[in-house]
Amino acid sequence: MDKVVIIGSGAAGLSAAIHLAEENVPCILLSEMPAARAQSNMAEGGINAALNTMGQDDQPELHEAETYKAGRFLACREAVHRLTHGAPTIVRMLYDWGMALNITEEGQIALRPFGGQTKKRTAFASASTGKQLMYTLATKARMYEANGRIETRTGCRFLKLVENDGRAMGVLILSVTTGSVSYVPAAGVILASGGMNGLFGNATGSVLNKGNATASLFANGLPLANLEMIQYHPTTTKLHGKNMLITEAVRGEGGRLYVEQNGEHFYFMEVKYPELGNLMPRDVIAREEWQWIKQGIQPYLDMRDIPKEVSIHKLAGVLEACHDFLSLDPLQEPIPVSPGIHYFMGGIYVNVTHRTRIRNLYAAGEAACQYHGANRLGGNSLLGAMFGGRTAADAAMDDLHGRTSAFRPPEQWLRPAFWLEGRQSGLNLPATRKTLNRLLQKALGIERNEEDMQQCLQDVRELELRTTGRYDEQASLDENVTFPDSLLLSKAILESALARKESRGAHTRTDYPGERDEYRKTTLSVFKNGEIHTTFEPIEGD
Ligand code: FUM
Repeated sequence: MDKVVIIGSGAAGLSAAIHLAEENVPCILLSEMPAARAQSNMAEGGINAALNTMGQDDQPELHEAETYKAGRFLACREAVHRLTHGAPTIVRMLYDWGMALNITEEGQIALRPFGGQTKKRTAFASASTGKQLMYTLATKARMYEANGRIETRTGCRFLKLVENDGRAMGVLILSVTTGSVSYVPAAGVILASGGMNGLFGNATGSVLNKGNATASLFANGLPLANLEMIQYHPTTTKLHGKNMLITEAVRGEGGRLYVEQNGEHFYFMEVKYPELGNLMPRDVIAREEWQWIKQGIQPYLDMRDIPKEVSIHKLAGVLEACHDFLSLDPLQEPIPVSPGIHYFMGGIYVNVTHRTRIRNLYAAGEAACQYHGANRLGGNSLLGAMFGGRTAADAAMDDLHGRTSAFRPPEQWLRPAFWLEGRQSGLNLPATRKTLNRLLQKALGIERNEEDMQQCLQDVRELELRTTGRYDEQASLDENVTFPDSLLLSKAILESALARKESRGAHTRTDYPGERDEYRKTTLSVFKNGEIHTTFEPIEGD
């Protein structure tokens, strides 16, 4: 029998692989980097579950309602229901697998408050929850590697999904060491390749991930959804052209946002939103900060009101990062913060079972559009990756039926030169990518408007005209092959943002303020007959 192929060795990919292995279904885990370098390692603050420890009178129903509300009612309610009701089992399972989580004096899993939630619901490992999670998953996966149920191949970049008759048959991958292209047949393909930070370039996460797999699939007709929903995390700080995350856990533990006015601290979130204050959902805080930044006023995050032992005990990673990378001691001085791109709520359109519109192709984690609607709650991303990976694995197993395929893609697809035939050299891909980054950053910021986005669309079209038919001799094959797809994906994001003539969650339009009922729909993007089609579809299960 062919194996299930998983693209990406972050939390979603490992979660899927482990679940397949538990059920004795063999899989191949393909990634460029080893798991220790996956983006999931960078997650800091925690993972949500209504665990009810620490005297919390919490319920999955409340977690569900708060997730759905923070996403401004754009997520599929049934998917959110399954996610939030599955959360306690996921977190307890991780704990049983040996994940280091902070515990209370009574030995219970400790919880911290996180944005948009009225209960303490976020389990955590100080400020390095992602690292502890990934360490646990990698260790668990290694047990299954030993008995052959999980085969791990690193140094592989996704080049293309191979389909036949509307069915995923396998993938073409590029070896980063030899430059060779090979075909990996698959009983099913689970795409867990993360978001698209590299399209924008100023994100908190790894910009190595440019969303190439998503772009390639889109170019081949796979529908994407809610692409305009891009989360700006309110507390990031500039670092060499990138944004460093200052975890929401700082605010969960009592950190306060302020601006200076007439020589005094003005705690703008606490004044305007007395109920949740500094822990309002991320879209709200990012917008509030932006109003100050536009006036040239710097917002600060102040940790000095947090008891020192709490900062040292629970936020050690933040103190260390500020000291090492900013030469700043948050115990003595505030941290200058501004919103930075952090997460893509949109992505590959999947149903509640994580099936895509191509048979035997599934997507999970940040690559998929499923749980977060127009704005994600902090702490729901590791949860979504864990739960989504297992759900996608379940769907892949249900669809297996002992699939072995004699199918082989055309022989020429395995010749690297084939992919660049007819193209001229001379393209400077890093510089061109930077141009694309700048264009998208400018038009798809926290506040958007028709004029800027139309201009950007035109600029991207011009970039397309200048680069079509050309390649960069210094760049890798997948980069060259996928760059036109990146331009196409960029246009699809812009078209989605232009089409949504309202402000909802992370998508704020100065020319269309406020939510409008007729847009409580899924923005669907499909590339068909050489054109991007953007439509609004009823939300699944609505
Ligand atoms: O702020 C944070 O620690 C981020 C957490 C998340 O995005 O879930």
